[in-house]
Amino acid sequence: MQEIRVELTKNPKAKPQDENNLTFGTTFSDHMFVMDYKEGRGWYDPRIVPYAPVALDPAAVCLHYGQTTFEGMKAYRAADGAINLFRPDENYKRLNVSDDRLCIPELDVDFCIEATKKLVEIDRDWVPSAPNTSLYIRPFVFATNPDLATNAGTEYTFMIITGPTGPYYPEGLNPVKIYVESKYVRAVKGGTGMAKTGGNYAASMKSGQEAHDQGYSQVLWLDGVENKYIEEVGAMNIMFVIGDEVVTPELSGSILSGITRKSILELLKAEGRKVSERRISIEELEEAYDKGLLREAFGTGTAAVISPVGVLKYKDKVMTINDGRIGEISQHLYDSLTDIQWGRAQGPDGWIVKVC
Ligand SMILES: Cc1ncc(COP(=O)(O)O)c(C=O)c1O
Repeated sequence: MQEIRVELTKNPKAKPQDENNLTFGTTFSDHMFVMDYKEGRGWYDPRIVPYAPVALDPAAVCLHYGQTTFEGMKAYRAADGAINLFRPDENYKRLNVSDDRLCIPELDVDFCIEATKKLVEIDRDWVPSAPNTSLYIRPFVFATNPDLATNAGTEYTFMIITGPTGPYYPEGLNPVKIYVESKYVRAVKGGTGMAKTGGNYAASMKSGQEAHDQGYSQVLWLDGVENKYIEEVGAMNIMFVIGDEVVTPELSGSILSGITRKSILELLKAEGRKVSERRISIEELEEAYDKGLLREAFGTGTAAVISPVGVLKYKDKVMTINDGRIGEISQHLYDSLTDIQWGRAQGPDGWIVKVC
């Protein structure tokens, strides 16, 4: 394994004063991990250095053709002061899946986990301790060589930045209002929907803005071909409790294989609940709603863990789920997963990786 060079900052930043008012994605810790790649040389010069802007050639491939990928995970402070990562191997395996789709060279999963542990350990004082706070970890890769000829890059940078973050919904686990998108599409089979790449999110922004303007917090995407089958929410997978079964769209190639989704499915199966991963159409969902069988709906993702859906709007139809209240299964899953992440309960083998 390559040795990681460390240069500590001489000017540590002030940490947020009030851990109960942390926002997401705007405050960053003192250090970052950086490693470069050159065709013929491979990945080289892994280093942890003070957090700072990056210099890029104005013709860098990533700026023009979006050859970028990223991941999102968290470090959690347990009651005894220990710092936990949650299934980081899954994040780095998924980064390699995204990288493969975007013609970006493969990274070594074990090395990436070591780099993450080392970075978080150096910035351990940035991991907050207030309830439901964590250190958000953002690994990302981008093509850096100047080339406007739409070729895949020949040089890349892999970086990891981190920053303290509060609960996704500071007011607690309140059900959200979701708008089912029927005009724009996000992804199609064979496209990049299964990869975590910037372009997917850029392509979603217009729809997100229009939904916000109508008072909805997020968009639920339908498939890009028939505009009929349910896919996922902007940054979450989606699950429904229909009758006594938990149903979630299968991994079709156009949605992200969420690590929270995978973990929830594993927990549900271990509890002996009925679970199915399959195609589910918006008509089937409306029918279940009309018959009173749609008991709960919730999003799953690293940011919010579980995000109960209180209202689902499709065209002119507004479906209020479980009277707009959080459902029993949603609450149970939120409690089970967060207890594992914050070290209050023992999870399955390998889910928690200790930083220190
Ligand atoms: C498009 C999309 N779907 C689903 C998810 C949920 O994935 P995970 O549970 O790994 O955070 C995310 C968040 O990363 C996302 O961006």
